[in-house]
Amino acid sequence: MDYERNLPAHIGIIMNGNGRWAKQRGLPRSDGHKQGAKVFKQICEYAGDRGISHLTFYAFSTENWSRPVEEVMAIMNLFREYLFEAEERKNENEQKGMKIRFIGDLDSEIIPRDINHLVHMLEAESSNKFKTTVNIAVNYGGRQEILKAVKGISQRIKNGYLLPEDITEKDIEEGLYTAGQPDPDLIIRPSGEFRLSNFLIWQSAYSEFWYSDVLWPDFTTQDFDRAIEDYCLRNRRFGGI
Ligand code: FPP
Repeated sequence: MDYERNLPAHIGIIMNGNGRWAKQRGLPRSDGHKQGAKVFKQICEYAGDRGISHLTFYAFSTENWSRPVEEVMAIMNLFREYLFEAEERKNENEQKGMKIRFIGDLDSEIIPRDINHLVHMLEAESSNKFKTTVNIAVNYGGRQEILKAVKGISQRIKNGYLLPEDITEKDIEEGLYTAGQPDPDLIIRPSGEFRLSNFLIWQSAYSEFWYSDVLWPDFTTQDFDRAIEDYCLRNRRFGGI
């Protein structure tokens, strides 16, 4: 099997199990997220080296605001630290050909102003010559994303640029945060759960799913390799035979 030739172009990862990882060690949940953020960086780096061109990490959903305020603040702090670090390591990331993007409603009032500012700064400066795009989904929900696309289309109809009978799938795709990127070939969900949880619901119509019992803070590059090897053995038919 030629694993390298069949590599997935886009991998989505649901980073799950941080809370349980911390609980098992008698630590606060925030320590689990902290360890999860370290693993996120390791996997980003490794996936880039392996030649994966697109990655999307589910970091914070539109539903995650219902968590205790200390936990939400701890996660926001991790984003803040990461954004500062990414800003500092801008040249290094550019040299590696890594483009970091945030997807989700980052302009919402609920997002701390400084985080919103840092996100815009980072995105404005990201180089155009890149081989790996890393999407970090924050305040992201798949239904909310589709709703956003539908509102964009409705506006074009209202303004007379489009007729309802002419709407195509492409019009919807162009309104998604991932516009212009390939759909995820593979979605990885660790921590023994078998749900999509409102992640890339439009884009994952033909994705292959890979689950594992490993909690995200324990997830290694070997687990990542295993997911890719399994993916390469799948027979994708896209509705054909
Ligand atoms: C869900 O699993 C995880 C989250 C809501 C947070 C994930 C965030 C990170 C890993 C930090 C990412 C940091 C950067 C810089 C991108 P859970 O921890 O609630 O799992 P549980 O089911 O064990 O409680």
